[in-house]
Amino acid sequence: MKYLIYLTFIILLPLSLFAEDGSRLWLRFPVREQGKAKIISKHSSPTIQIARQELTSHWRGTTIELQLNKKLNYLKDGYQIKSDKDKIIISASQDTGLLYGAYHLLRLQETAANLSNINIEEKPRYDIRILNHWDNLDRTVERGYAGYSIWKWDELPNTLSPRYAEYARSNASIGINGTVLNNVNATPDILTNDYLLKVKALSDIFRPYGLKVYLSVNFSSPKELGKLSDSDPLNPAVKDWWKSKVKEIYNLIPDFGGFLVKANSEGLPGPQDYGRTHADGANMLADALKPYNGIVMWRAFVYNPSNEDRAKQAYQEFVPLDGQFRDNVIIQIKNGPIDFQPREPFSPLFGALRKTPEMVEFQITQEYLGFSNHLVYLAPLFKETLDSDTYSDGEGSTIAKLADGTLRPNKTTAICAVANIGEDANWCGHHFAQANWYAFGRLAWDHQLSSEQIADEWIKMTFSKDEEFVTPIKQMMLTSRETVVDYMMPLGLHHIFAFGHHYGPEPWCDVPDARPDWMPWYYHKADSVGLGFDRTKTGSDAVSQYFAPLNEIYGNIETCPENFILWFHHVPWNSRMKNGNTLWENLCYKYDSGVQQVREYQKIWDRMEAYVDNQRFGEVQSRLKIQARDAVWWKDACLLYFQTFSKQPIPYSIERPAHELEDLKKIKLDMKHHN
Ligand code: GCU
Repeated sequence: MKYLIYLTFIILLPLSLFAEDGSRLWLRFPVREQGKAKIISKHSSPTIQIARQELTSHWRGTTIELQLNKKLNYLKDGYQIKSDKDKIIISASQDTGLLYGAYHLLRLQETAANLSNINIEEKPRYDIRILNHWDNLDRTVERGYAGYSIWKWDELPNTLSPRYAEYARSNASIGINGTVLNNVNATPDILTNDYLLKVKALSDIFRPYGLKVYLSVNFSSPKELGKLSDSDPLNPAVKDWWKSKVKEIYNLIPDFGGFLVKANSEGLPGPQDYGRTHADGANMLADALKPYNGIVMWRAFVYNPSNEDRAKQAYQEFVPLDGQFRDNVIIQIKNGPIDFQPREPFSPLFGALRKTPEMVEFQITQEYLGFSNHLVYLAPLFKETLDSDTYSDGEGSTIAKLADGTLRPNKTTAICAVANIGEDANWCGHHFAQANWYAFGRLAWDHQLSSEQIADEWIKMTFSKDEEFVTPIKQMMLTSRETVVDYMMPLGLHHIFAFGHHYGPEPWCDVPDARPDWMPWYYHKADSVGLGFDRTKTGSDAVSQYFAPLNEIYGNIETCPENFILWFHHVPWNSRMKNGNTLWENLCYKYDSGVQQVREYQKIWDRMEAYVDNQRFGEVQSRLKIQARDAVWWKDACLLYFQTFSKQPIPYSIERPAHELEDLKKIKLDMKHHN
């Protein structure tokens, strides 16, 4: 009998070791024989204990010493890694620095870096590197495409899923040190004592991994939860309510990070309901959090159905308030002025708030990028924004440097992204979507890393170190963002998605009585003359919100970069572009090139079967098929529809449409998300 059990164990062991459902993310370190790696540390703490444990289990090299050294506090939670005779010393002024150093060393080991004479000093570029979960308390996830929320609110605080620690570990391995647990469209319930106890349970698990918890709050909480007559930020009773709520939170969670607030945006309550400003609202919360070093991340994602160009509204609302915010308020600004489109110019608010710290909000979840069906590597998109020169403080005023304190001495610096994490076994829905979580963490740590380097690390850690695999897959990843732009919204087109969801194309969509700024025609402005939104001085004049010389460059059709041309200009169909083709021709070529590229990805992936386990190979292969079909859907829908205005043939050299426009117009996807 004993023998039988033993045999079953031996047979099952390899199966479980090689079950490749993607749940191990990029953390596939080899498990080494116990006790072989010698890890020394004079200090101990739960965080240092994790660092030791990780190295003991996975490090294959020489002895490592972990040293706490207060002199290194100029590195904040960064670290040094240095070879020293026959050992390697990781030193940092904070425990978390040692943990990040340990993960970095393992990353170097896993990516086959040269580890002799190692001499590294790393300081993170942003103090707060934080994920925003748009998770609701009923466990649905707004714009989430990887299953239900990983937070099992109904079971908390008594039952603790092992995934909570895995989540914290994964974040620590890439330097992410903060998490907003709940949706920006927040329900007041998150602040009830019941929920705060659940939040406390999570933060207790996250703490040793250096991961701080933050919450999204509903501005009407005093009225809704506290039964006050209103939530006016200047009402002393409201101020007191927040103060005592904040005290209650810090009694439970002494290192609580602070609040994220979406106010007076898309119908949510806010200070303007009482004739007050965003500054009044943010400051009231900031005052309550200040004694505990908590912060307020106040979102600038605001727009109303008005006659004003939506792209201009955040700037118009926030610039007049510059200088009025407390020093523990950071304005959280989406990368573009509209809403996480495949490509947008950067938001003109960056650099425009001279006396107020600003942070970038990216979206890792692919709301507008094919959900978890399309392979799109987002580091190039993130970097495009971070490297954009705003010219706010002269040439070289990139968004990265404005937000990281290089150009302006911000007390606290931060960067965030909307998570793509759910309860799917592989966390993110698409195996390649894991790379976007990874890339955000790495760029938040160091925005100077290249998209290529990050892809290289991720591929080697997640799939294979074999160059025959790494080179083509990296190429595929690096081009994938441009590809999705090409088959969805090339040349500066934006927001031409279906009304009921943000997955497929519906440039023709027109819902009677719906808000114009949610209608595709509001953005593409197709007519018999041409295509695109005139945002020049004679149009909506959004160009004037950019600093010189960008206002001139974007405002002039001759100098505007072609990848933004339809964002800023209404371009005649026959207008000649730089390559000599007309706008119509180039539009067709772009859509076609997007489709061809996805087909190329299918070929690349199919050749890689030998390098990938069956499960992940098959799952990625299936999704590439969907992506290829969707790309054709996008191309046909947009070209056939815009053709009704251009009245010109699709160039005969490219693939012919495979659909009838009328059939495409009938497609209705059953998606529960609102617009
Ligand atoms: C988009 C998204 C919403 C989300 C909003 C936000 O509009 O579609 O689901 O709530 O952004 O960022 O607040």
